Amino acid sequence: MKKIEDYFVPWIKGIEMYISPHIEMAWEDRNLHRMMSNENPHQPSEKVLAAINKYGKMANRYSDTGSVVRTKIAELNGLAGPENVMLGNGTSEVYDMMWRSFLAPGDELIQHTPCFGIYKLRCNILGGKLVSVPMIYEEGQLLFDPDAIIKAVTPKTKLIVIANPNNPTGNFMAEKDFRRIADLGIPFVVDEAYKEYSGLEDSMVKLIKDYKNVLVTRTLSKAYGLAGLRFGYMLGNKEVVSQISATLIPWNVGTIPMWAALAALEDTEGLAMRVKFNNDQVAYIEKELGAVPGMTVFHARGNYILFDAKGTGKKGDDIVAYVQEKGIILRPQNPMYDSDGFFRVTIGTAEENRMTVESIKEYCAK
Ligand SMILES: Cc1ncc(COP(=O)(O)O)c(C=O)c1O
Repeated sequence: MKKIEDYFVPWIKGIEMYISPHIEMAWEDRNLHRMMSNENPHQPSEKVLAAINKYGKMANRYSDTGSVVRTKIAELNGLAGPENVMLGNGTSEVYDMMWRSFLAPGDELIQHTPCFGIYKLRCNILGGKLVSVPMIYEEGQLLFDPDAIIKAVTPKTKLIVIANPNNPTGNFMAEKDFRRIADLGIPFVVDEAYKEYSGLEDSMVKLIKDYKNVLVTRTLSKAYGLAGLRFGYMLGNKEVVSQISATLIPWNVGTIPMWAALAALEDTEGLAMRVKFNNDQVAYIEKELGAVPGMTVFHARGNYILFDAKGTGKKGDDIVAYVQEKGIILRPQNPMYDSDGFFRVTIGTAEENRMTVESIKEYCAK
């Protein structure tokens, strides 16, 4: 008789459950300062809390497909209607649904590294082949390399994903380069998880009107500050959205997140306050740590800042460990581009940011 292990599809063998040790640690010890996962330091606004409470009382009811909130999202993005919008339990689920819709085992997904880790995880689950195209590290900047992405395309390429701004590098790719890649006709995902921090005016959502193969994703986990609620969405051409929506798990977004998301999207003052706070704090941290001799700062358009401490003579991991002794969790970064100096800081409260700046300066001065 065959063993149960022999029945698993081969491509999931050896893959383990995704665990973020930092998040586990922070929930275990609530005194720790969470500056590692690009969360928002502000708790939900009163308006959002009121919606959570109101719909909490209706949690005995199944959710619908979110036509009200989808209509609101379409409106915010200048799209025709709810048929241009698909909802997910965070954008992480939205990627899963997109990847499932385009990738068969052996098909290729192109990502531009360094980047968000979930693209790879969901690709592996499907037996897809991940093709990582590195950004270019030049004169203290990590630059997009659209030519290399176009060169990496093969007949097996079924998806290309680029975050704009990218995590962790914090920068944008030029619109003309998005268009060059979109011109290939391959499904092209533009991940705009952090776009609200710099405003939606120059979002790549406009490409949807010109390209049926472009899909834009957003989340309420970042500027809206609702990471624990799990609400993300995808925007695209209505026929494409309809086909991908066929893969959705029924009732994937619960009643509470759906209506709380609507309240958050309507709370424009709440968003503006969070964005302004974040951008002021980014400027403060960049100025302070940019003054540390030898420190390379990657100017951030999201709620996180990447640093390369190589020029200070310190290692990124050692900085992270030093700051962690003071109860602040930062994000280490694997060595890359011949440097072990990289680390990432998520914007926290004003006090957390001040403490972080002081401890990093203190360590670098040793
Ligand atoms: C680039 C990028 N995209 C998407 C997400 C995921 O967000 P969600 O909470 O919506 O799954 C993150 C979270 O860190 C991210 O950095």
